[in-house]
Amino acid sequence: MPLDRAFKALRQFNAPDAAPLAGRKDRMAPFWDHHFPGDAHIHRLARALSKRFAIDLKEFCEAVEFFARTRKAIRAPVVADLFCGHGFVGLLFGLFERRVERVILVDKMRPPAHDLILGAVAEVGPWVADKVEFRREDIRHHVDLPAGASVVAVHACGPRTDRAIKSALACGGPVAVMPCCHHTSGYHQRPTAFDELLGPDVAIDIDRTYRLEGAGYSVEWTAIPRAVTPKNRVVIGRPGGPRRDLDYDPRI
Ligand SMILES: C[S@@+](CC[C@H](N)C(=O)[O-])C[C@H]1O[C@@H](n2cnc3c(N)ncnc32)[C@H](O)[C@@H]1O
Repeated sequence: MPLDRAFKALRQFNAPDAAPLAGRKDRMAPFWDHHFPGDAHIHRLARALSKRFAIDLKEFCEAVEFFARTRKAIRAPVVADLFCGHGFVGLLFGLFERRVERVILVDKMRPPAHDLILGAVAEVGPWVADKVEFRREDIRHHVDLPAGASVVAVHACGPRTDRAIKSALACGGPVAVMPCCHHTSGYHQRPTAFDELLGPDVAIDIDRTYRLEGAGYSVEWTAIPRAVTPKNRVVIGRPGGPRRDLDYDPRI
């Protein structure tokens, strides 16, 4: 049974007739604004994005719901959004989390949408722009980050999710990923015996979970609503969990 969750931040999309809209790959535009009528920051942000035709509704809902599900677990003074694309997830941390002093966005390309989105975010939260650094970098192994930085990676395809996890392990910070494209993660050492029963995507995320727990992280799985995307599993790792000894218990 796939994981699913209700909308946590964008509760208006929990209404059955509204939920399918959340997965729409159409640019947000002013005619969507009736879904965001209030004074809350998130509604004002949605309208600022619509005004600029800056982002698709699906991408907006994906980032906002990912942020809502992960913010408490992984907030830290430095947040790095790896394989960030437009960088909206990282910007949400800079906007809504007072503890976040610096947002590092890393991608090999800086899409034009980033500047539109940053403009909308800065309209709602003028304090964000000074926190943000966009690094154009080809992430081949892991990214050098300040000690304790938290790492997010949304739909970092296949092994790129593993590079994000590796970056978090290297700097010792918390991590939250929403993996996709598991079929391109061919090098995984998982026992393929599980693939038929669980599906390779679950088997690979179990492998990632063992890897994090083996490094002393505690791991939790959650999800964003499937109405936004079927690639909705979120894996959160926090340092300081019980270090699991992956060897067999000698008493057995
Ligand atoms: C599917 S997109 C996800 C973007 C964003 N996280 C999101 O949720 O919209 C994957 C991103 O990874 C970036 N990417 C792919 N390979 C990369 C590499 N080797 N180094 C840095 N960025 C890379 C692409 O440019 C693209 O923006």
